[in-house]
Amino acid sequence: MTELNIEQLQTDLADKNPRVILKKALELFDNIAISFSGAEDVVLIDMALALRKDIQVFSLDTGRLHAETYRYLEKVRKHYQINIELLTPDRNVLDSFVKNKGLFSFYEDGHQECCGIRKVEPLKRKLVQVDAWITGQRKDQSQDTRQAVPEVQIDTAFSTAEHQLLKFNPLLNWSSAQVWDYIEAYQMPYNELHQQGFISIGCEPCTRAVLPNQHERVGRWWWESGAKKECGLHAENLKK
Ligand code: ADX
Ligand code: SF4
Repeated sequence: MTELNIEQLQTDLADKNPRVILKKALELFDNIAISFSGAEDVVLIDMALALRKDIQVFSLDTGRLHAETYRYLEKVRKHYQINIELLTPDRNVLDSFVKNKGLFSFYEDGHQECCGIRKVEPLKRKLVQVDAWITGQRKDQSQDTRQAVPEVQIDTAFSTAEHQLLKFNPLLNWSSAQVWDYIEAYQMPYNELHQQGFISIGCEPCTRAVLPNQHERVGRWWWESGAKKECGLHAENLKK
């Protein structure tokens, strides 16, 4: 591939709608994967399939997702007739972590260590195999960490000296309401937890429903103070 001018690409994709950003991402890269959390970001799968049939989709199976999310992953797999690659933590590291610290250490010393083992390390293993990845990050998910995220960026957290990784964020400029309009308009499957007051959905012990008008991020790692709630998947958001 000829050298990509990232700045030009950022300018071209600035403020564009999700389909335009996705189309560009899929045109530029064959070896590109969608990172699906098992929530509203299903919109990415739906749109990508309309552009290309052979999309790669993966999900980080931390072992701590809600039963509803596991059921939903299966539902999406069957609905779209796609494979969703489930990435699991390194068994030895996980065994020794749980042996030493039990199953709920994050309530005492923070979520970073557990997220590091259950999410970040498996993600890292996957991302060395692709040239670019696609996420469902949106600006409206966090006033504190996602306002300055661009539509496309060099993923400085997961690139290596030998391997530059690009990250596309097609839903960036859509609001939650726009995502839900799309899900309803096209009768797409959604995670049952959304009917129980959950908005942002992560692992079961670290996610809770929010009250009307509370921001969605309030339901994630709620026992931790500080606004900058990121788990390491989007570590470059904290560098800004
Ligand atoms: S998180 O970093 O705080 O957990 P968030 O839940 O806002 O992320 O989701 C933003 C995007 O990160 C999702 O749209 C998805 O692309 C990716 N992501 C989050 N959790 C997962 C997961 N378990 N598996 C795969 N991708 C995920
Ligand atoms: Fe562990 Fe909670 Fe992070 Fe899931 S969100 S990996 S359970 S700390």
